[in-house]
Amino acid sequence: MSAHAKILAIPVLMAALLVPGASGQKSELDAEGHPWWQHAVFYEIYPRSFADSNNDGIGDLNGITSKLDYLKNLGADAIWMTPCFPSPQVDFGYDVSDYEAIDPMYGTMGDFDKLSAESKKRNIRVILDFVVNHTSDQHKWFLDSKSSRTAAHRDWYIWRDGKANGQPPNNWLSTFGLSAWKYDPATKQFYYHYFYPEQPDLNWRNPAVEKAMFDTTRFWYKRGVSGFRLDAVDTLFEDPALKDNPIVPGKDKFGRPNMDEKYNKKLPEVHTALKGLRKVADEYNAVLIGETWTSDVSQLKEYYGNHNDELQLPMDLLLNGLPFSAGTYRKHVAAMDSAGGWPVYVITNHDITRSYTRYQDGKHNDEIAKLMAAFYLTLRGTAIMYYGEELGMENNDPKSRDDVQDPVGKLSWPTDKGRDGERTPMQWTDGKNAGFTEGKPWLPVSPSAKTHNVATEEKDPNSIFSVYKNVLTLRHTEPALIEGDYVSVNNDDPNVYSYLRRYKNEAFLVVLNFSNAARPAKFDLAPQGFAAAKEQMVLASGAGTMQGNYITLEPFGFYIEKLTK
Ligand code: NOJ
Ligand code: CA
Repeated sequence: MSAHAKILAIPVLMAALLVPGASGQKSELDAEGHPWWQHAVFYEIYPRSFADSNNDGIGDLNGITSKLDYLKNLGADAIWMTPCFPSPQVDFGYDVSDYEAIDPMYGTMGDFDKLSAESKKRNIRVILDFVVNHTSDQHKWFLDSKSSRTAAHRDWYIWRDGKANGQPPNNWLSTFGLSAWKYDPATKQFYYHYFYPEQPDLNWRNPAVEKAMFDTTRFWYKRGVSGFRLDAVDTLFEDPALKDNPIVPGKDKFGRPNMDEKYNKKLPEVHTALKGLRKVADEYNAVLIGETWTSDVSQLKEYYGNHNDELQLPMDLLLNGLPFSAGTYRKHVAAMDSAGGWPVYVITNHDITRSYTRYQDGKHNDEIAKLMAAFYLTLRGTAIMYYGEELGMENNDPKSRDDVQDPVGKLSWPTDKGRDGERTPMQWTDGKNAGFTEGKPWLPVSPSAKTHNVATEEKDPNSIFSVYKNVLTLRHTEPALIEGDYVSVNNDDPNVYSYLRRYKNEAFLVVLNFSNAARPAKFDLAPQGFAAAKEQMVLASGAGTMQGNYITLEPFGFYIEKLTK
């Protein structure tokens, strides 16, 4: 008999203790000393694309509020909303023109308070996105800054004279194409922008900037926000002497020479700023998540701070760039798990091709999506999902350059089509506009909405949605998946990746076939202390039943069982 996505989980309530947090405030820790954010499943929402309540084709806060029951039912404990503050929308909200208000396109402050209150009722926390590196060029600070060389806010941004020949101050490049310097003819200086020219970099060396940014976080904490996802943290500081970056071999996606960004990224001062933001967060028992792009795990580790005094949750963005295989994942998780920090796993977001599209083989696409859920949602650590991932939403990339909305997609077309593809409307139904809006959606709905949508998948016990929901139920109710250690087993198997999550006299055995062929797996769990344990299958897809200590898995199948001594 083949075991399908069937659940036999027994809810267990974790004992909660009240102990003082860093600021002396009361914070809830569980019996093993874990705060809420170590257990929580975070769910990233791109507000433009989640649910449109007023049918203008753009998602909004009331739309999100109307879907909180859906999120609760799925198993989300916290929502991280990408920026919903006033913005000219050049970078779809990552160009903020007022940090302490809501963009009318998304609603009002009253709508935000309602979303926050309704979330609280359901025990869902709200996390905002804090764009720390830059503002919009329409922010009042920048408008003043560019008004004259002696303006009060002049030194809030990075202004410099150009070279004698009218060239920019140095060779730094914007990650969105062209130079990182824009000339202002009125004041005859250049300003620095790592992203679009409409996103001037703040000067974090100016104490007034630091204070204003810290105060912004206080403003939202006082309004009930539980933390922030900090945008682009590694770009906060630049070398004051503006040294040229070394040119290295190769070309980037815009056809420019590659450079080693050693003088405008990951400067040591970043850590001082993060410590400051953390100090304020601790006053409110809040959590800081980092958009932490790193080249390896040891670099990622630095973001926790030497004394765990920087980010509680720096995202592991390395996982999504690894080749899909049992061996690479086993190696990576081993490195993450032993690094000393609390791991934060992510497989997709609004800046990278959706996981469904990235991992698909054209034949077992849904099976692979289920396998990935069974994998990263059973690891020790915090998980951050992206909207629609639980449905198997795919990328729906623009078909022509004229259709592109994301400016970077126009510049890098056709090498890179920009980020529109991963930001398309949430697929609620198989009906008009996937149930996202009655109006014209700002980005085209993916054709996959016909099959991969909430209404259809909620009814199907074997859908990708059902696998996500079942794994999340286990994660919320089983102490071994919450508290258990991680021990990988059968380490030489190149196809089937297996591990235990052990806690006291219980363990979960997770068996994942990362290959496109049927594979056997055999277990001897005596060295791990679970030789003669009672076995109970709790969730599986594409797997046979365990015969003694032997099981076979179909291509990309998975099997999860509970062991009790
Ligand atoms: C990272 C964000 O995730 C991305 O969407 C944005 O364009 C840049 N930072 C600039 O804010
Ligand atoms: Ca709307």
